[in-house]
Amino acid sequence: MDKLFITGGRPLYGQIRIGGAKNAALPLMCAALLTHEKVTLDNVPYLADITTMAKLLVQHGAALSLRDTSPGTLFHPATPGHYSRELSLTCETINNIIAPYDLVRTMRASILVLGPLLAREGRAQVSLPGGCAIGARPVDLHLKAMEALGAKITLEEGYVLAEAPEGGLIGGEVHFEKVSVGATENILMAATLANGTTTITNAACEPEITDLAQMLISMGADIEGLGTTTLTIRGVAALSGTHYRVIPDRIETGTFLAAVGMTGGEVELLDTRPETLRIVIDYLQQIGVEIVEHNTTLRVKRDITQPLKPMDITTAPFPDFPTDMQAQLMTLLTQAEGDSTLCETIFENRFMHVPELTRMGANITVDGHCATVHGRTPLKCAPVMATDLRASVSLVIAALAAEGSSTVQRIYHLDRGYERLEEKLSLCGADIQRTR
Ligand code: EPZ
Repeated sequence: MDKLFITGGRPLYGQIRIGGAKNAALPLMCAALLTHEKVTLDNVPYLADITTMAKLLVQHGAALSLRDTSPGTLFHPATPGHYSRELSLTCETINNIIAPYDLVRTMRASILVLGPLLAREGRAQVSLPGGCAIGARPVDLHLKAMEALGAKITLEEGYVLAEAPEGGLIGGEVHFEKVSVGATENILMAATLANGTTTITNAACEPEITDLAQMLISMGADIEGLGTTTLTIRGVAALSGTHYRVIPDRIETGTFLAAVGMTGGEVELLDTRPETLRIVIDYLQQIGVEIVEHNTTLRVKRDITQPLKPMDITTAPFPDFPTDMQAQLMTLLTQAEGDSTLCETIFENRFMHVPELTRMGANITVDGHCATVHGRTPLKCAPVMATDLRASVSLVIAALAAEGSSTVQRIYHLDRGYERLEEKLSLCGADIQRTR
């Protein structure tokens, strides 16, 4: 089991290139099931979840190829920390409609093959994902949406059995009682090949959904309402292949902004999309982290002799504050002068980082779905345990600013969402090593 060994107290200086967004690449990969032609994605991050999704699609029948597109040539070695790769998927035929439990249980996003399989093959058998550390995370909204397009859904032995009508899915009205990123992505993909028009209301409008819609349009889909909570999709007979670049990861970007806020220093984040994390940038600036935007570059600066201001934050669907940044901001707010309250409205159990931060000296009280951080508390090193992806990175950020050397265990959670995190941080001066 890999661990990270971090000695805190060192400011960060340098440059970090932001990779492609995990939460965009995963649905984009599933969209390859919708066509028999080649789909090529560039700027794909090298993460455990991407590998799992690739395995899942290959067992459905996709042919996969990977090409390193990191900058740099034979004569000029790649700039350290700058990695990217091009992933091609061609699903000429789907020779297996089953998404097996052993793959689905390791990654919830596997449920995103349901819509494409139903649309392409008219049938799908997808294992129920099971819960995870941050909550039950059911798929009822996905299933109800498919039924609205005429699918027959039954649950048998832990699997979702889905059957489209004889002539294929039928366009219809899909209204989400609750905003769901995954369910919106699933039904959006299914609707592109349905007979007739589908209207989705109360759709999630995260940047990753707009990225998926733009790629589907590049494949010949007819979609209107991008970036809004109402999407209209006119079904087409078939989709073609495409060559598409994954958007930069707004959560990786926000994570590094918070890290510099913790450690002090000055870092340039390259290849970002500031408009996809506007509220995160605004909140960090209000707290006292200096951020200057220049096209796709964000320059972040913090003088740790200057105090940070407390702030009350409530997570909510885009464009409000993203739940995937809650843990990172909680860590930063342990250094603010005063009390901050963070309310988590998306997941029922996303405060797993609180006991670990408390062991490092933070003073945090949890009451239901709100946590109050009493700052400022100097943090001290401690052996801590990662639990979910974003909780893990909040512990890394804490350790970077804590006095002494900390060990972060179970960092396989980190590897699901951050490519070469320790390398990117040590290139900016952090004292961080991965031990096998
Ligand atoms: C996506 O998860 C992201 N994952 C999550 O990122 C992110 O936290 C989440 O959206 C919210 O922004 C990917 O994109 C791969 P939801 P998803 O469906 O689609 C409930 C990370 O750290 N719900 O928007 O699973 C659900 O339980 C991960 O990168 C139902 O009740 O999230 C949750 O409470 C973590 N029924 C809420 O809705 C359903 O059918 C939002 O879930 C589906 C969801």
